[in-house]
Amino acid sequence: MKVLVIGAGGREHAIVWKLAQSRHAEKIFCCPGNAGISELAECISFDDNNFDSLVDFARYEGIDLTIVGPEAPLSRGIVDVFEKNGRKIVGPNMKAAQLEGSKVFAKDLMRRYGIPTAEYKAFTSYLHAEDYVRMKGAPIVIKADGLAAGKGVIVAETVDEAIAGLKLIMKDRAFGDAGNKVLVEECIRGEEASFMAFTDGKTILPMVSAQDHKRIFDGDKGPNTGGMGAYSPAPVITPEIESIVMEKIMRPVIKGLQSEGIKYKGILYAGLMIKENKPYALEFNCRLGDPEAQPVLTRLKTDLVDVALAIADEKLSGVNLEWKPEHSVCIVIASKGYPGAYEKGRAIEGLHDVKKMDDVFVFHSGTSFNDNKVITSGGRVLGVTALGRDIRDAKSKAYNATEKIHFKGMHYRRDIADRAINNSFDSASEQCQ
Ligand code: AMP
Ligand code: GLY
Repeated sequence: MKVLVIGAGGREHAIVWKLAQSRHAEKIFCCPGNAGISELAECISFDDNNFDSLVDFARYEGIDLTIVGPEAPLSRGIVDVFEKNGRKIVGPNMKAAQLEGSKVFAKDLMRRYGIPTAEYKAFTSYLHAEDYVRMKGAPIVIKADGLAAGKGVIVAETVDEAIAGLKLIMKDRAFGDAGNKVLVEECIRGEEASFMAFTDGKTILPMVSAQDHKRIFDGDKGPNTGGMGAYSPAPVITPEIESIVMEKIMRPVIKGLQSEGIKYKGILYAGLMIKENKPYALEFNCRLGDPEAQPVLTRLKTDLVDVALAIADEKLSGVNLEWKPEHSVCIVIASKGYPGAYEKGRAIEGLHDVKKMDDVFVFHSGTSFNDNKVITSGGRVLGVTALGRDIRDAKSKAYNATEKIHFKGMHYRRDIADRAINNSFDSASEQCQ
């Protein structure tokens, strides 16, 4: 079977790595891929807005199954174009992908179906939004409605900060049309976790839990990033919380969409805040998290092609997901300047040494080749991931490997997974961030 993966990041490298172990996948393509992915798949480059030419490629190559990594092509309707042309693809269609593409759509849906979430109000007028912020006071959360690469959320500790956020989104239009609407949201203090599931629109199979580290610096300081590291499992997701999340959040979303004529197939990711043992949905994503995919997929025992085909064919009820009992930790190494403007083109040393290490996998995010040498080409560059018998073991293997890698200007957090190790959930509840 031939499989095509869409995307270029660490999440897609983890997907391709998992597919490469499948008993079904004879050949893997990735569009556009990166230096690491090219060791396992044939990387192809197409204009990522031109879904018709991708369908032509899939037809020409006889690709049996396509898996979409990132949200942007899902929101632009890649699934609709593939399905219209009779090609198997995994991911939600354009209507279903609004769950991530429009935060207002997601919040209104949650309100209609009684899904626990932060209180909110949506605005198209700057002045009305400002009045509302002044009336509510701080802390308060301001969100651009549309896709903003994880940067359109401002958790404001003061009214001035909130108003600066509103100005940034609505007046300076920092995120373009994504800021045509804003959400002003109650700030919920608690412990965050990422909860992801496979679904074919009927059956929902939860994955093992994970926790991301969104801030750039140790101790959850500094600006938000795409994610500086992740670990799995997240102890905050106890079996009891998991069953509440399934009953009160995941099932009502899929059923709610269904009752409005939208079939949601693919991956459903709920960004959760757990407060006093009660989960709230902060947001939904329509794809695997990056970097959460890296620790989660390294724990998946089941053949990913079997899962993907069952999603596409709506036969997920016949799949029994199996997971490794080990813990997994992923440390993201970033370029100098990230999450702002960052350096590119730095030669990466040490990758060969790390390859020899047991239970360690280096997933590439922003890498390319220059004269056969691997160089940096993105803000997040590598996700060094390790499996261990417990979280401490996984962390220590992941950091041992990270220390063997070098490029000029590289930086990474030193405290990934510490929260799980120390179970220090209280520190998070002190602040609203
Ligand atoms: P999002 O891009 O929606 O995941 O939001 C980015 C981050 O902002 C989340 O991971 C949370 O840390 C924080 N956040 C979002 N909504 C809220 C909220 N209502 N209360 C507190 N923190 C929030
Ligand atoms: N790591 C957060 C996300 O993928 O949205």
